[in-house]
Amino acid sequence: MSQPQVIYLKDYQVPAFLIDQTDLRFELEATKTLVKARLTMRKNPESHSQQRALFLDGDKSLVLHRVAINDQVLSDKDYSRTDDGLTIHDVPDSFVLETVTEINPQENTALEGLYRSDGFYCTQCEAEGFRRITFYLDRPDVMSVFTTTIEADKTTCPVLLSNGNAIDSGDSEGGRHWVTWEDPFRKPAYLFALVAGDLSHVEDSYTTMSGRKVVLQIFADKKDLNKLDHAMTSLKNSMRWDEEVYGREYDLDIFMIVAVDFFNMGAMENKGLNIFNTSCVLASPQTTTDLGFQRVEGVVAHEYFHNWSGNRVTCRDWFQLSLKEGFTVFRDSEFSADFNSRTVKRIEDVSVLRTAQFAEDAGPMAHPIRPSSFIEISNFYTMTIYEKGAEVVRMIHTLLGPDLFRKGSDLYFDRHDGQAVTTDDFVAAMSDASGRDFTQFKRWYEQAGTPELTVSDEYDPAAGVYTLIIQQSCPATPGQNEKLPFHLPVAVGLIDDQGADLPLTNGQTTQVLELTEAEQRFEFTGIHGDKPVPSLLRGFSAPVKLRYPYSRDELVFLMQHDSDGFNRWEASQKLGVDVLQSLTAAYQQGEPLAFDARLSEAYRSVLLDETLDPAMVAKILTLPSEAYLSELVDEIDVDAIHAARTFARQHIANALEAEFIAAYERCSSSEPYSPDADSIAKRALRNLSLAYLVETEKPQHLSLARTQFDNADNMTDSQAALGLLVHSNDEVAASEVLAIFYERWSEESLVVNQWLSVQASDPKLGTLNKVLALMDHPAFTMRNPNKVRALISAFAMQNPVNFHQLDGSGYAFLADRIIELNALNPQIASRLVTPLTRWKRYSEQRQALMKNELQRIMDSGSLSTDVYEVVSKSLV
Ligand code: TRP
Ligand code: ZN
Repeated sequence: MSQPQVIYLKDYQVPAFLIDQTDLRFELEATKTLVKARLTMRKNPESHSQQRALFLDGDKSLVLHRVAINDQVLSDKDYSRTDDGLTIHDVPDSFVLETVTEINPQENTALEGLYRSDGFYCTQCEAEGFRRITFYLDRPDVMSVFTTTIEADKTTCPVLLSNGNAIDSGDSEGGRHWVTWEDPFRKPAYLFALVAGDLSHVEDSYTTMSGRKVVLQIFADKKDLNKLDHAMTSLKNSMRWDEEVYGREYDLDIFMIVAVDFFNMGAMENKGLNIFNTSCVLASPQTTTDLGFQRVEGVVAHEYFHNWSGNRVTCRDWFQLSLKEGFTVFRDSEFSADFNSRTVKRIEDVSVLRTAQFAEDAGPMAHPIRPSSFIEISNFYTMTIYEKGAEVVRMIHTLLGPDLFRKGSDLYFDRHDGQAVTTDDFVAAMSDASGRDFTQFKRWYEQAGTPELTVSDEYDPAAGVYTLIIQQSCPATPGQNEKLPFHLPVAVGLIDDQGADLPLTNGQTTQVLELTEAEQRFEFTGIHGDKPVPSLLRGFSAPVKLRYPYSRDELVFLMQHDSDGFNRWEASQKLGVDVLQSLTAAYQQGEPLAFDARLSEAYRSVLLDETLDPAMVAKILTLPSEAYLSELVDEIDVDAIHAARTFARQHIANALEAEFIAAYERCSSSEPYSPDADSIAKRALRNLSLAYLVETEKPQHLSLARTQFDNADNMTDSQAALGLLVHSNDEVAASEVLAIFYERWSEESLVVNQWLSVQASDPKLGTLNKVLALMDHPAFTMRNPNKVRALISAFAMQNPVNFHQLDGSGYAFLADRIIELNALNPQIASRLVTPLTRWKRYSEQRQALMKNELQRIMDSGSLSTDVYEVVSKSLV
C-alpha cells in the first residue's frame, strides 16, 4: 500500500484553470449510469503556472468512455488515467472539454458521490464526492454555473431534481423522461446535488422581505408525508430570522429539502436542494422525541443559513472549513436560543463541547479550528471545527457586542459575495467594521488544545478594592508544544452576601474582562462589606477550563443566587463534580461511600421552587455525566465513576422521593402533545423525576414507569419509560416492553433505531452479547449509517462499563466492526475509531488492550485514507 499523502495549507496555490460553465447530463440506471459533462474552461489569469497539462480529479471507480476537447475526440496518448484522476497533456488557453463517464450507484456503499438510498438516487458531494461522479476540478475555489439534465425511467423516477430552477422537461424513448435544471449562482462542485425517485412532497411558500415569493417543497417517501410539518415551520422561521437578525434574504424562486434514509452525516446545504438524513427532518409526536423535534429545527436552520454562510460566500480550501461551519453553528444556536429557552440551549451546547470537543482537544487527533495539514478531509468534520469554531465566533460577538458584530457580518457578506475566502477574511471584516485589533485573537485559529484558566482573588475591604488574578495556559497538543497566550473574554459578576449582584466598574452587573496575558490582574473598586463571591465566565464566555477554589457552601450559594442562569447551572455541576470525585476516590480506596447532604438539600430547594423554569430544574438536577467526569481526570476509572454516580443517584432518589412524586404529578398534562418550550420543559422534569424514582428500585415506581409506557401519547414519554425499564433489573418487564415497542414500531425505521440504542446503552453486564445478537436482527444493516450509529456507536460511546470490559471483548468487537466498515463506508468506519483513540486516558491494562486493537486494524489490509489517518495518528 502506498503511503497516503499529507496535504498542507502552506502549499495552497490558486487553480491553474477555471470552469466558467458546467453542463451535465445524467442517464440514470441503477448499475450503469452515464454522466456526460461539458465543461467550458480557460486558464486562470491569476495563476502563474505555465503548465499546458490539465489535471482533473476523478476517483478510480470512474469508467472513462470518451474525452473530447473542442469537439476533437482525444486518443489514448493525449491523456493519462491514474487512480486519482485524469491528465490531459496539452490544452489550449480556453476550450470546451467533454467527457462521458460511467458510474455504478447501486454498488456505492460509501455514500459519497451518486448512490442509492432505499431505491432513490441521491448525491453527497461535500467534501470531495463530486470526483466520484465525473472528472472535474473538485476544489471549492473553482466555482461554476451549472445546468443539469437528468434522464431516467418515468415509472420508478417520476421526480427528478437538481439545483436551481427547472427550465425544461420532456419525454424520451423507452418509457423515460428528462428534466433540465439551471442554477444561476456560481458554485463549487461540493454544492452540486441530484435526486431522483418516486418521492412525494409537501409544499408551502414564503414571501421574502423584498416581497419575492419562494416556493418551499419538502420531499420524502410517501409514508413519511405526515412527518414534514415541523421541518416546514422551522424552515419558514429560519428564513424570517435570517432576514431580521442578519439582513439576509433567500435568492432563488424555489427551495427544496429531500429526506433520505442512507446518509453519512446530518444534512447537506446543496444550493437550493438541501439533502437531509431522515433523522434530521422527519418529526411527528408519535414517533419523535422532544430532542428530535429540536434537532430537526436546529438542522433545518443550519442548512438554510449556509445559503449565505457557506454558499454565497464559500471556502477557498478545506482548511477553511470552520469559516462556514463554525459561523453557521453559531448562527443556528442563536436561532434556537431565540425560539426556545436561551439558557437551556447554552447549557446543552456547553455540555457537548466540554465532553466531546474537550476530549478531542486532549487526544491524538487534536487540531486547531483551522488545521494546517490533513490526510483525509472527511476526518476534519469534527467537534473542533464545528463546535469550537462556533465558540470562537461567539467570542468575537461577545467582544464586539451585537451591533458591531452585525456591522462586521454585513461587511463580510457584501465584500465577499460570490467569492471563496478564508477565515482571515472573516476576521478582517470583523476588525475593519469595528476598528478592533484581532491580531492576537487569531491564535484561536492556529493553536489547538483547551486553554486552562486558574483564578484567584484578593480583597481589601478598607480600600474597597477586589482583585481577580487570572492565569492562563494551554497544554501541548500533537505538533504544538509551546502555546502563546490567547485573547479571550471573561464575563464576570460579583455577588454580595445577600445574593445580589454588585454594580461593577462599567456600571453594569456583568463585565467582560479581556484576558490577553499569561497572567493578569483585574481590579474592581467601590466594593464594600463582606468579600463578594465571584461569578466567573458567565454564559460560558470562552471555551476554556476554569479553576477557582470555590467551597461547597459557595457553590450552593451560587446555585441559589447567581443572576446568570448558565452559572447557576454551572455551580450545580461544580458541586456535583466535587461530590462525585470524592465518592469515586472512596470507591477506588475501598472505603465506604458517604454522601454530602448539601447536594441533595440544594436539589431539594431547586425542586421545590415552582417559580423556576422546569427545564432549568431538570438540567440543574442532572448530575454531571460519566463522559464529563471522565474528561476531568487524568486516568479514567470507568467502573469507579459509574459506581459513584449510581450511588449518588440512588441517594438523591431516596432523599427526595416525596418531592419527585410531587414534581411528577405537577408536570403531568392532559393537553394533547405539543413541542413548544413550556411543554418540553414539563416533560423533561417529569421524566427526570421518574428516572430518580425508578432509581429507588421500589416496585411502585417501576409500575409507574410501566403505566407511563403503556399510556404515553408521545415518543418522549414512551421512550423515557422504555429506557428506564430496559435498564432496570426487572428482566421480565424489560423484555415485555422491548417486544411491545418493536411490534408497534417495526415499520418506523427511526423509531427502531431508538429501540436498538436503548439496548446497546444498557449498563448492565452482558450487553455485548445482546448487541452481537441484534446485528443479526432484520432491522439491522451495516450499510445504513443510522443503524450503525444506533447499535455500534451507542455501545462504544454510551456504554463505558460494557465497552471497557477488562477482558477486552468490547474493544475487539469494535475493531472487527471498523475493519468490516472500512471496506463498505470509510467515513463511518473512521468515526467509529474515536473511542479507541483515547487509550492514553485509561489504566495500563486497558491501554495495552486498546492499542492492540488499533494495531490489529492497522495490520488488517488495505485501509481507507480515512481509517488510516486516525489509526496511525493514534498509535504514535
Ligand atoms: N456541510 C454539512 C453540514 O451542514 C456537512 C456534511 C454533510 C458532510 N454531509 C457530509 C461532510 C458528508 C462530509 C461528508 O454540516
Ligand atoms: Zn454545516
